[in-house]
Amino acid sequence: MSPQFQAGPPLPPRKLPRHVAIIMDGNGRWAEQQGLPRIEGHREGAKAAQRVVELFIDYGISYLTLYAFSTENWSRPRQEVDALFRILEEKLDEGLDYAMDKGIRLYHLGKLDGLSPVAKEKIKKALELTKDNRRLSLCLAFNYGGRDEIVEAARRLVLSNTPAPNIDEKAFSQHLYTAGIPDPDLVIRTGGEKRLSNFLIWQSAYSEIYFTSVLWPDFGREELDKALIDYSQRQRRYGGLAPR
Ligand code: IPE
Ligand code: IPE
Ligand code: MG
Repeated sequence: MSPQFQAGPPLPPRKLPRHVAIIMDGNGRWAEQQGLPRIEGHREGAKAAQRVVELFIDYGISYLTLYAFSTENWSRPRQEVDALFRILEEKLDEGLDYAMDKGIRLYHLGKLDGLSPVAKEKIKKALELTKDNRRLSLCLAFNYGGRDEIVEAARRLVLSNTPAPNIDEKAFSQHLYTAGIPDPDLVIRTGGEKRLSNFLIWQSAYSEIYFTSVLWPDFGREELDKALIDYSQRQRRYGGLAPR
């Protein structure tokens, strides 16, 4: 059977990661290569994100985090930032029925402060509506920065009056945007850069990292399967020794 007719994951479920987090990079270069404005790259990128969500449902992987807008992305031209917000709002509107139909629970990682009142409302509504869905937890990192998240967690800990001796890694984790969500097993970055760009810097302490030069709008089943197979061949030691 040719690959495009295969359904399901390329590996048995026990070899799959539980949580995959993706730095969706390369939209702008994809558009430039086609002679299109960068914004068209973001539109195609949103379609790729939709494809990947469908694949995760098909593969039965429970957690997917998508890095869509960083706290540093505010430094881009106003027109590009506005277009990114427009796309987010459109996708939230269009995607809600699909999320309810497929059992997707939406999470937002990042700050709501700084977003427009309309975007805030749409995000809050989507989180509320999908909160009982259990099939796939889809975390959207939007207006997200790893350092911001850590500083914010410190602030929340202080406000919670937690006594200093009780502050340990577990207590700290519970004040991050990702409270209750397992750390990513696999972080994928498309677009060829080999850095984390302030993404999940606490949570990825022991994640396996996979870099590909494929630009995000070109990412699909074949690329995801490659990353999953590569992950399944890694040996996770967490500072210990390989089993003998
Ligand atoms: C990633 O693509 C999307 C966002 C950061 C919002 P880029 O827009 O960074 O694309 P390149 O890296 O310029 O190609
Ligand atoms: C990382 O991509 C942020 C997102 C994908 C949302 P960037 O394109 O912003 O990262 P840098 O600037 O190359 O580090
Ligand atoms: Mg980029």
